[in-house]
Amino acid sequence: MDKFVIEGGTPLQGIIPTSGSKNSSLPALAAALLTAEPVVLHRVPRVRDIRTMERLLVDIGSSIDVEGETVTLKTPAIVSPEAPYELVKTMRASSLVLGPLVARAGRARVSLPGGCAIGSRPINFHLSGLERLGAVISQEHGYIEAAAPKGLKGARVSFDRITVTGTEDILMAAVLAEGETTIENAAREPEVSDLADLLTKMGAKIQGAGTSTITVQGVSSLEGATHEIIADRIEAGTFVMAAAITNGDVRITGCRPDHLGAMIVKLQEAGVDLTQPDDTTLVVKPSGSLKPVDMTTEEYPGFATDLQAQYMALMTQAEGISLVTETIFENRFMHVSELARMGATIRIDGRRAIVAGRSKLTGAGVIASDLRASASLVMAALAAKGQTVIDRVYHIDRGYEKIEAKLAAVGANIQRVE
Ligand code: EPZ
Repeated sequence: MDKFVIEGGTPLQGIIPTSGSKNSSLPALAAALLTAEPVVLHRVPRVRDIRTMERLLVDIGSSIDVEGETVTLKTPAIVSPEAPYELVKTMRASSLVLGPLVARAGRARVSLPGGCAIGSRPINFHLSGLERLGAVISQEHGYIEAAAPKGLKGARVSFDRITVTGTEDILMAAVLAEGETTIENAAREPEVSDLADLLTKMGAKIQGAGTSTITVQGVSSLEGATHEIIADRIEAGTFVMAAAITNGDVRITGCRPDHLGAMIVKLQEAGVDLTQPDDTTLVVKPSGSLKPVDMTTEEYPGFATDLQAQYMALMTQAEGISLVTETIFENRFMHVSELARMGATIRIDGRRAIVAGRSKLTGAGVIASDLRASASLVMAALAAKGQTVIDRVYHIDRGYEKIEAKLAAVGANIQRVE
């Protein structure tokens, strides 16, 4: 298993380019199942989760051509409407093929995701949404069977709680359902809007994407399309906080500051010298001491749960006590014990973590657990005195394209060791 060896203490200096969004690419790849015509996606990051999704789509019946960050998919027919356990257990987002398969092939057999490091992560809302559209759902041997042999019919779908991939799954089912579908309490994440943009280019009729209520007029078939994936807001936010924790001077380019409003305000409140010279750039300057500012994760446009671990690492360097509250997942504090090994003082009380800064971080051996927790360990290691070895960096490879190259290019002393 690969490790990262990081010598901390060097402020980051220079320019970091942002990749395309992993969490927008995943539903966009699944959407290619909805048509027999070619779908061309630009700016798809070459990360592990994307390769997993591509493998799944090939098993289903797609032919996939990858040229750098451009992926061309053709699905002349659905050969096997299945998502097997061995793939789904490594990537929960495999459930994104459910809606497209039922819509295109009238059936799907998808393994239940099982849990992951950050929580049980069921897909009950995906399933109840499909039932509302007329699919018959059954479960056996750890698999979900969804069938709609006569096709799906538009309906009113209302989610008990906001779900990002649940909204995306139902949106992709509704575009080929007969009649009108309304999705209430829909997720408003930019990745949902990006998917709706792609589906609209394919001929879908969608209103309200990016708001809590999305209306779809079903069509009988969709065409191919070409689409550029939006910038990865979580990657950009991670690099902003990596610059801040090292008191660096960094320009993050090719990003979408308008997708990071809550984080920008929060970091400025904490005293980070963070500015937005134009609508695709964020600039961090050496900020001196940081103020402790409480933060609670919320669905978009609130502070993203995927940036919580990174923010907590930053708050270990603030002068005082801050409260970090995680409202989206039940177990997203896996980074706390690892940060403590590096000298952080953090107390967990249910969904809240009390961070006592400023603590002197020193290098240590730590283990990555989930994708974003690992990113917080990299940040802490960049700020710590001495050497840190991070084990199981495959977690990081799931969602960050060439992270060590991007960080080394701005002065970080980071090596990947086989
Ligand atoms: C998406 O996951 C993202 N993944 C996650 O990013 C992100 O953390 C999450 O949204 C929240 O923003 C992708 O987009 C591929 P949810 P998703 O459904 O859709 C519960 C990363 O690091 N829930 O919005 O799976 C669920 O357990 C990943 O890139 C149900 O109970 O998250 C959670 O507590 C990690 N039943 C809450 O809702 C359901 O049917 C929100 O989950 C669905 C969800």
